[in-house]
Amino acid sequence: MDDPLTEGPDLQAASSTVVGRAQGMYVCAGKDSLSLLMAMTFVFLDGSAYNGSSVAVVGPNQAAVAVREMAVVGRTGALRFARGYCQARTYSFDAKTGDATVEYNAYLRHN
Ligand SMILES: *[C@@H]1O[C@H](CO)[C@@H](O)[C@H](O)[C@H]1NC(C)=O
Repeated sequence: MDDPLTEGPDLQAASSTVVGRAQGMYVCAGKDSLSLLMAMTFVFLDGSAYNGSSVAVVGPNQAAVAVREMAVVGRTGALRFARGYCQARTYSFDAKTGDATVEYNAYLRHN
């Protein structure tokens, strides 16, 4: 995957500024359910203080569960040494195209 990372869910909306890319991969990892293993980095490419910084996320993503928690396992740039986790919520899913819009909230503690 190499998907746009936006502030809001609607790619057409002015409020949905692109702040970076969500790059990585996910594989089916559930024997009896649709559970994905996510391994991705959120790479910030905007004009903010976080431009060029990244957050690495690894964890289980059980698609049918409303809120999925994953570990933030690494960070670079301005976010070095931060610790945290993130929670994913499906905003929309198109079964015909397989396209999903997913909201990620990352909670990071920084010194
Ligand atoms: C982000 O940083 C890169 C590398 O320093 C720079 O080329 C780019 O112009 C910056 N992007 C923005 C939007 O400031």
